[in-house]
Amino acid sequence: MRADETDSFPFTSIVLTGGSSGIGNSFLKHMEKVYRSVRICNLSRRSATEFSAQLKLRHIPVDLSDTNARTAAIQEVLAFLREDESAGQVLLINNAGFGNYGEFHLSNSGAQREIVEVNINAVIDLTAQLLPVMRERGGTVLNVASVTAFQPTPYIATYGATKAFLLHWGYALDYELRDSSVRVMTVCPGSTDTAFHARAGMGIQGPSAKFAQTPDDVVNEAMQALRRGSPHVVTGWANKIMTTFASWLPWRWATPLTGRVLSHLKAHSRE
Ligand SMILES: NC(=O)c1ccc[n+]([C@@H]2O[C@H](COP(=O)([O-])OP(=O)(O)OC[C@H]3O[C@@H](n4cnc5c(N)ncnc54)[C@H](OP(=O)(O)O)[C@@H]3O)[C@@H](O)[C@H]2O)c1
Repeated sequence: MRADETDSFPFTSIVLTGGSSGIGNSFLKHMEKVYRSVRICNLSRRSATEFSAQLKLRHIPVDLSDTNARTAAIQEVLAFLREDESAGQVLLINNAGFGNYGEFHLSNSGAQREIVEVNINAVIDLTAQLLPVMRERGGTVLNVASVTAFQPTPYIATYGATKAFLLHWGYALDYELRDSSVRVMTVCPGSTDTAFHARAGMGIQGPSAKFAQTPDDVVNEAMQALRRGSPHVVTGWANKIMTTFASWLPWRWATPLTGRVLSHLKAHSRE
């Protein structure tokens, strides 16, 4: 199965954001096992540790919410891609992201804009700058969204809306690029056992905790979906049922239902 993956997707360069922890770190572990000679470039503030010297991993330290730092980092990524003499396929994994739990009117607008910078604007900038190279060499853009993309999400309103953006945007780009050798896929995980919730200031309990996936599960399902050619994948069977249900419901019903579930995470976080 893994040989198939390298046959179908002979990536020679991988650009990943947010490889320093959680799902991004699991993407690195997967690549270390499957793509033995691939060159990988990670963009995050902290570096990704615990990888063997065999993994050709370059770390570009950058705060993706800072526009100037991001522009400079993208120039380094382009130089990294030019160094790839084989000029093979490129995989861009837009994974870095974060959220902040709480009522919007009580939060600071700078913090909300920071979410948009990392979860949306950094994705737009990286993808726009890398697409010319990817159209020449072939490749895949893999965006990490969330199950929050399927309905409005009170208490994480901005975060949820950034993920809805990624899902719609990914489908639209994939269509526009249909005659090229570039594909766009969106991965929608549900609760996953990473530092995400603690960093967002939210608790995790009830069904969210019971059905939480490991980051390795999310990455395995994402890579399987890539092989199937799916434009998006919701990982985990419970998340698949939940998002199907949410997609059927009118938003005037889905919003209060989601709000009620998410409000419990708020109560839990204050315990
Ligand atoms: N965990 C979940 O339940 C869950 C569910 C659905 C979707 N997701 C999505 O999965 C993706 C990965 O999150 P995770 O669960 O793996 O959480 P995580 O362990 O907190 O990892 C987040 C990654 O994003 C990077 N990042 C955050 N802000 C950044 C910034 N300003 N500049 C550069 N890098 C930044 C972090 O790197 P540094 O801190 O080193 O900069 C880290 O590597 C996110 O897009 C998240 O929205 C997570």
